[in-house]
Amino acid sequence: MDKIQINGGRKLAGEVDISGAKNAALPLIAASILVDGTCEFSNVPHLVDIHSIRLLLEDLGARCTFDNHVMTVDGSGIHKIEAEYDLVRKMRASILVLGPLVARFGHARVSLPGGCAIGARPVNMHLTGLEALGANINITHGYIEARAQKLVGNDIYFDIPTVTGTENLMMAAVLAKGTSVLKNAAREPEIVCLAEALNRMGAKISGAGTAFITIEGVDRLGPARVKVIPDRIETGTFMVAAAATRGDVLIKGCNPEHLGGVINKLRACGTKIDINGDQIRVTGVEHIKSVDIKTLPYPGFPTDMQAQFMTLMCIADSTSVIHESIFENRFIHANELLRMGADITLFKANIAMVKGVPELQAAPVMASDLRASASLVIAGLIAKGTTLISRVYHMDRGYETIEKKFCALGADMVRIK
Ligand code: EPU
Repeated sequence: MDKIQINGGRKLAGEVDISGAKNAALPLIAASILVDGTCEFSNVPHLVDIHSIRLLLEDLGARCTFDNHVMTVDGSGIHKIEAEYDLVRKMRASILVLGPLVARFGHARVSLPGGCAIGARPVNMHLTGLEALGANINITHGYIEARAQKLVGNDIYFDIPTVTGTENLMMAAVLAKGTSVLKNAAREPEIVCLAEALNRMGAKISGAGTAFITIEGVDRLGPARVKVIPDRIETGTFMVAAAATRGDVLIKGCNPEHLGGVINKLRACGTKIDINGDQIRVTGVEHIKSVDIKTLPYPGFPTDMQAQFMTLMCIADSTSVIHESIFENRFIHANELLRMGADITLFKANIAMVKGVPELQAAPVMASDLRASASLVIAGLIAKGTTLISRVYHMDRGYETIEKKFCALGADMVRIK
């Protein structure tokens, strides 16, 4: 298993280009199941998770190509309606094929995703939503089986805004008979990206980006070309890394509008942030102020930035309270940061108090999930000495050529095979 070795203590400086968003690309690729023809997606990041969904679609019978960040998916040959355990267990987002498969074929069998390091992550709202559209759901032998002659539009209320749940039901409802309204829908930019793509394919969706999404069912969808939006979490990760190393970094090809929560908190820490079109310049300051954060659904502070921000708070001037309100077990990185000399106390499983220390110390650490691995990379960049991060396969699921990008900014970082 690969490891990342970082000799810390260098300020990041220079320019970095942001890749397409993993969490926008995954539902787009799943949406091509709805189309009897070839869709083309550009700005798709080369990541392990993208490879996983491609393998899943190919297993269903789709024909895919992927070259130079452009993926084509020809869904006309899809004949299989079962997403097997071996493919789903590698990536929970595989659940995104459930809605499109039932919508197009009236039948789907998808392995039930298990828990993951950051929480139980149930999919009950995906299933009750499909039931509201008329699907019959059975869970047997670890598989979700959904059947419906023809889905019928309905109102669906989410108890909690769920990102992939909203995406799954939007994709199911586009081919349903009649109108559906998703209420308390998630408002993430990735949902807007999917809705716009589906509309290009011929769907009639309005309200994406608000808590009420209206979908008028249509008979069929056709091929479309879609560009994946920039990755807001990769952008935020580079922003925090620049602030933490007291660097000066120009982040290019991003969408600053998607980063309100992160920009607001970084400015509150004293970090200088200049926005110019699709570029953000982040200039770190010596004296980093402690600020509190609470993770919330978009447009609140993203849970996917909590770990990185905790690392920044480890070297801030006083005490910060970090409240993780989305996932119940998303502080595993805190124990690794403690090994690097951080002062973190967990009040509850989801509330941490971080007292800033003058500096972090390099240490061997272990990544537990995708964003935790990013927080450890940032910790390694600021710590004096050599940090060795193991289990970086988590990072490869969501950050494209991360060591290359950090090295171009002056980091001393190598992958050890
Ligand atoms: N939830 C339920 N029941 C459901 C669905 C969700 O109780 O049926 C709960 C979850 O347990 C959680 C909350 O609702 O407490 C929100 O979870 P959500 O469904 O929104 O998460 P997700 O769709 O599984 C996506 C991202 C995650 C990101 C979360 C929150 C993708 C592929 N994944 O997950 O991304 O953390 O939204 O923003 O879009 C990552 O990229 O590192 C990552 C984990």
